[in-house]
Amino acid sequence: MGGLTEVMDRVLAAQKLTIAACGTSWHSGLVGEYLFEQLAKMPVEVEYASEFRYRDPLIGKEDVLLAISQSGETADTLAAMREAREKGALILGVCNVVGSTIARETDAGVFTHAGPEIGVASTKAFTAQVVVLTMMALAVAQRKGTVSEERFRQIVEELWRLPEKIQSILDQNDHIKAISERFTYAPNFLYLGRSINFPVALEGALKLKEISYIHAEGYPAAEMKHGPIALIDQLMPVVVIAATDHTNEKMISNIEEVRARKGRVIAIASEGNEEVKRLAEFVIEIPETDDVLTPLLSVIPLQLMSYHI
Ligand code: BG6
Repeated sequence: MGGLTEVMDRVLAAQKLTIAACGTSWHSGLVGEYLFEQLAKMPVEVEYASEFRYRDPLIGKEDVLLAISQSGETADTLAAMREAREKGALILGVCNVVGSTIARETDAGVFTHAGPEIGVASTKAFTAQVVVLTMMALAVAQRKGTVSEERFRQIVEELWRLPEKIQSILDQNDHIKAISERFTYAPNFLYLGRSINFPVALEGALKLKEISYIHAEGYPAAEMKHGPIALIDQLMPVVVIAATDHTNEKMISNIEEVRARKGRVIAIASEGNEEVKRLAEFVIEIPETDDVLTPLLSVIPLQLMSYHI
């Protein structure tokens, strides 16, 4: 797929970026939306490929479609690409499998090289996709001048530190397993996140459904009060992702609301987040990192929890 260099001028001139994907890849696309909007100041729409293809979508020669797929063979994603191509859009891809149909049919893009996906539940594919989307957004941002050299360097240096930080979460495996064992009884789970960690809440819920066969819903934390709050009682585990600074106070009041209804809060909290650690019944700590990179850490305990449950 060769990266973005050859097509960068068309990407820079684009009116909007449409991301099309399914399942976990759609969730990484939602993280990508935050990254492209925040870093590259580019308008982004994230579409379920299956909806996009049947909607006679408004996409044209000035637009870019980015397909994300681990396998490179998902029929709906492929159909969305073909639909966009027919309308003249530039087609980019983020794909894991070299030689796959999606990889072959893109104009340009990046392979994730995450290695073969062994189980159905996508895990390393998600983190690899988010890393690639971060790098793509940074490359566009640098050319557009929407991030300073210093900010660019800060994020890149932090990306280099992530393997070590992910390892420190994996080292808490016994702790995460012990928490998981407490909740094997639960028929329902609620996952709450805000901002760039809202898609991580969706992904946490999807992982639990896919591999534990437990009903779970992911929600933007503020939406909890518009319905799901009625479901919260002492039997309902609520997984709260409290990893970004600028939404922390809001998350604290969400945790208080859950506690007021006797919900059982499992918080994925940044190390220094003392208030959240004090309020939650169970805490899984993740190292501090740049706000835009937090999904790469916050998703790891959720993947492990689903596995242990
Ligand atoms: C689903 C898988 O069928 O396809 C998910 O169960 C996956 O795990 C989704 O995220 C999309 O697949 P792909 O290969 O296009 O990323």
